[in-house]
Amino acid sequence: MKGLILSGGTGTRLRPITYTSAKQLVPVANKPILFYAIEAIRDANITDIGIIIGDTGEEVKLAVGDGSKWGVNITYIPQEAPLGLAHAVKIAHDFIKDDDFVMYLGDNLIKDGINGLVEEFKQTNCNCQILLSHVKEPQHFGVAELSDGKVVCLVEKPKEPKSDLALVGVYMFDKSIFEAVNVIKPSRRNELEITDAIQYLIDKRYVVHPHIIDGWWKDTGRLEDLLEANRIMLKLIERRIDGDVDDISQVLGKVVVEEGAVIKESTIRGPAIIGHSTKIINSYIGPFTSVHDSVLIKSSEIEHSIILADCVINDIGSRMEDTLLGRNVKVYRSNTKPKAYRLMVGDNSEIEVI
Ligand code: G1P
Repeated sequence: MKGLILSGGTGTRLRPITYTSAKQLVPVANKPILFYAIEAIRDANITDIGIIIGDTGEEVKLAVGDGSKWGVNITYIPQEAPLGLAHAVKIAHDFIKDDDFVMYLGDNLIKDGINGLVEEFKQTNCNCQILLSHVKEPQHFGVAELSDGKVVCLVEKPKEPKSDLALVGVYMFDKSIFEAVNVIKPSRRNELEITDAIQYLIDKRYVVHPHIIDGWWKDTGRLEDLLEANRIMLKLIERRIDGDVDDISQVLGKVVVEEGAVIKESTIRGPAIIGHSTKIINSYIGPFTSVHDSVLIKSSEIEHSIILADCVINDIGSRMEDTLLGRNVKVYRSNTKPKAYRLMVGDNSEIEVI
């Protein structure tokens, strides 16, 4: 069995972060989302993994390399444009050959891994296994209609969903999917939809086995989803203090302080993670905060946020929360007169002031 991870796409809902970075490389609990997918597939004993890459391919290659750090072999498959998930399957045919495979969308996170699901796929001897999850807003997903436990209909982002069962971004296929992706036509958004390809399998009486997952799953396409993913993953970390914490500071609960980090005159209340060479001085870092490497936080309070590498946050006056800061962002108080907000912010940014 092989693995296929999709790491192309444009990540429009996470702009401006995705103007300069792949959405799959945004870190959750200081680890790129994409790495969770690689680990889940590796943990299911699958070591041949193809990664579909697009415009951000070079960055993905740099971060993932040849896969040896996970003990897997990575093959990169360039997609010339984001033409849909079924198009990605089509161009992966040479890599997959006639093997069974698990396809994993690189911006999806499943807390409990896929080990048991891969086993179930093998045992049921079906042509395709889809994972479904009850969600509040099914119109944002592919939606399945079941009857007597069988899938009867799949619709991509329906205006009037027939159920609350969303297609999770992890699918298991045998070679019959290649027949489907070569027959279906582009959708209204001009993409070859995997949902339509699976519907083709159903129509042709191939066996499509649904598995409703009850564990936590997230498509991290939006800020609130990323913050939730960060919450869930931080809850799982084990306390580990490898950096320097002075006597005045308090580090409470599940907190990781990486090597080279310095905590001075500060309180860190977990779950939280502080990256390599980051300095936290005279500050408060509250629960569910991930601070990446080489960040400086001074005389400030931050909670429930994701701060990427090389940021500087200095004396900001009020508490910062529910925030995602991209790399190398500076937020600081200035004493320059006249007193004013002075911003240099990229397109599609969002700033809430008090
Ligand atoms: C894709 C699929 C959709 C699925 C979702 C899961 O949507 O087309 O069926 O429910 O992933 O994350 P996208 O996020 O590409 O819009």
